[in-house]
Amino acid sequence: MQKLYFIQVYLVNLKVYTPDLSLRRALSKIKEISMKKTKKRSFPTLAIHGEKEAHFPFGSAAEPIFQTSTFVFKDSDELKKYQEGKIDKYLYTRYGNPTLKLAENKMAVLEGAEAGLVLSSGMAAVTTTVLTLCKTGDEMISTEPIYGGTLNLFQKLFFNLGIKVHFVDPLKLDRAENLIKGNTKLFFSETPTNPNLKVVDIKKLLKIAKKHKLASVIDNTFATPYNQNPINMGADIVVHSATKYLGGHSDLVAGVIVGRKKFIKSAVETMKMLGGCLDPFGAFLLLRGLKTLAIRVEKQNQNGEKISKFLSKHPKIKKVFYPGLPSHPQHQLAKSQMKGFGGMVCFEVLDLKKAIKVMDNLKLFLNATSLGGVESLASIPVLTSHYGFSEKDLKRAGVVPGMIRLSCGIEDGEDLIEDLKQALDKIR
Ligand SMILES: Cc1ncc(COP(=O)(O)O)c(C=O)c1O
Repeated sequence: MQKLYFIQVYLVNLKVYTPDLSLRRALSKIKEISMKKTKKRSFPTLAIHGEKEAHFPFGSAAEPIFQTSTFVFKDSDELKKYQEGKIDKYLYTRYGNPTLKLAENKMAVLEGAEAGLVLSSGMAAVTTTVLTLCKTGDEMISTEPIYGGTLNLFQKLFFNLGIKVHFVDPLKLDRAENLIKGNTKLFFSETPTNPNLKVVDIKKLLKIAKKHKLASVIDNTFATPYNQNPINMGADIVVHSATKYLGGHSDLVAGVIVGRKKFIKSAVETMKMLGGCLDPFGAFLLLRGLKTLAIRVEKQNQNGEKISKFLSKHPKIKKVFYPGLPSHPQHQLAKSQMKGFGGMVCFEVLDLKKAIKVMDNLKLFLNATSLGGVESLASIPVLTSHYGFSEKDLKRAGVVPGMIRLSCGIEDGEDLIEDLKQALDKIR
């Protein structure tokens, strides 16, 4: 019988057969059931529509911006009911806001997490996460290299607060085991790393974290959930600088935390005290950016691959760092945990003088820090993210003066290559 229905579905689709009404009903049932069984929305669809149908006031197609600091209660009885947890309502935007909630739900769906929280910056996301898990006297492990601002936070503020951070080389994760004690609370990592694009073995890190009952926290900023899904691999928490790929247009500063509902509930309490909430317009920009995340990152993956290939053959370039190049030392690992290799490419010329000459001759690549936007950016780490670092710290971070970091945008790849070519022609 089932077989007959499928033959008839085929004929209906070919428009050569018009079934009677009862058959139509039966066919629609089959379609529904098979949709439910097999069809999970794919990433680009989820990024636009989320998991469920959304109905916004007045039939608005775009998410409404609730640009308000506070929410009105009908009377004191309603307020009392809210405080007693008997009704679901919003009180004050630092505590929650419907536009923020939409962005949080979307991020949780995209990362495959139970819940999410949006914040005022990537740094707010990192600070809020660690301070939810650690108190004075606790310790944590972090891979290094990591983003310079995060490194500063770990080495300075957390040190002053009495939270000790032990650093491990991402290529020697086993060494973390010797540093873990009873008061070690979490294992933090960033992959691929900033700026030299080392790839951290997420599976291995998670195994160590699980064995010692540490919370695992992955900064997924460089990869984005389109290219890498640490939560699906078993990570507890993912943080983002949404300023980068998630916002995607260099017009937003924001952060994201996703994880289990219980953890996010605690993180909300920390965030309420620290005050790093996102504003409603920022949440709207994030939601708008997320709708095109898949198509943007796909193009950035293509541009990253093309440009890294071009640079790796250029005679004036000493080294190219890109996880998608077969010559990258962790290329196989990158292939096993990433769906695409991203738009970040790093390369070295002979010295800082030459790096400056290349930078100052670039026309399409804008000389600006940050990354992940539609426009291509270039920066010299020793003049931006790693400015003022001691020689020893630069060595630890794997940064040299002649290094240039590219954030490939979504322009035509050949135009970007042409730009690099003419700038490199200016050095000897
Ligand atoms: C990997 C990574 N994490 C976190 C941050 C901090 O993000 P934000 O500048 O949004 O505070 C950055 C910023 O560059 C980053 O590159």
